[in-house]
Amino acid sequence: MNSENPKNEISRRRFLQNTTAAGIYLSMFGMPDLLANTVTDKNTAGIPDVKLNNGVKMPILGFGTYGLSGEVCQQSVADAITAGYRLIDTAKVYGNEEAVGRGIKQSGIDRKKLFVTSKLWVDDAGYENAKKGFEETLRKLQLDYLDLYLIHRPRGDVKGSWKAMEELYKAGKIKAIGISNFDQAQLTDLLSYAEVKPVVNQIETHAYFQQTNDYNLLKKHNIYTEAWAPFAEGRNGLFTNEVLTQIAKKYNKTTAQVALRWHFQRGIIAIPRSSQKAHIAENLIIFDFKLDDADMKAIAKLDLNTTQFPEWS
Ligand SMILES: NC(=O)c1ccc[n+]([C@@H]2O[C@H](COP(=O)([O-])OP(=O)(O)OC[C@H]3O[C@@H](n4cnc5c(N)ncnc54)[C@H](OP(=O)(O)O)[C@@H]3O)[C@@H](O)[C@H]2O)c1
Repeated sequence: MNSENPKNEISRRRFLQNTTAAGIYLSMFGMPDLLANTVTDKNTAGIPDVKLNNGVKMPILGFGTYGLSGEVCQQSVADAITAGYRLIDTAKVYGNEEAVGRGIKQSGIDRKKLFVTSKLWVDDAGYENAKKGFEETLRKLQLDYLDLYLIHRPRGDVKGSWKAMEELYKAGKIKAIGISNFDQAQLTDLLSYAEVKPVVNQIETHAYFQQTNDYNLLKKHNIYTEAWAPFAEGRNGLFTNEVLTQIAKKYNKTTAQVALRWHFQRGIIAIPRSSQKAHIAENLIIFDFKLDDADMKAIAKLDLNTTQFPEWS
């Protein structure tokens, strides 16, 4: 299949309908007008972009790669790009940057059409190490720039790491810089010295841990929330949750699609991971229905306001 013309591409008419609805919906929530920022390239699967606080556009839905390695990772990344994903999320600590790079090459896509994210691991914290860590990441991915580079966890010399990232950003080696797993105090501290504001904070966010306070604070600073584990990896029965299942039935959708649509309607960037072609495709088809107020309220009630990954805290 021609990766630039995927068979499951959403039709232009439906794409415009969907993105119009998305733009109006997010405008209602005070988010940037997505309609003005939507991808117009007809070779994408019609995934709306958000405009980050530095003006760079980023797809609101992307592909996660945690836990994928070797050939499975390479093939999954190639499949995801062929299906229409343009945002690919990896990290040094996943140990799969080489495989992600090979998957990108295998897809045959023009690199400029992709939005590639990687993350600085804690071992590379500090000014000098961060610069080395970044070069190593680029080399493994076989790329000459990153679209987004994140401090993976707020450990070690965060100030030194950020300074290195700001310099790489100013040199054009990274199009946007951000953070991950920063709590409110850590974010406030970083903002006290940052010359360049982070564009996103990638944090655990799903129906069981909705992160409303962090989301509101980030929004106040014009920083996007990016959801890691948008399905909570299926923990606590997320894929069979009764509320999500009932809502899914109403729209003839799957619980996974409802979960992703909920993130989208909150204006949150989500990066679901799958190694199954059918799931990879399914997770893209969330722009042709809309959750109503009652659905959003019912999902809001699922919040347990606690991590589903205590082992990582
Ligand atoms: N910054 C951080 O600290 C951090 C931490 C964790 C994750 N992340 C990023 O966030 C991404 C997403 O999180 P995650 O990978 O941990 O978990 P996730 O996306 O919440 O869940 C992945 C799981 O969901 C299953 N799945 C996917 N689509 C499905 C569908 N349509 N129906 C049923 N099951 C489905 C996958 O299985 P199949 O393969 O069988 O489809 C997989 O087991 C990661 O891959 C990574 O890029 C970042």
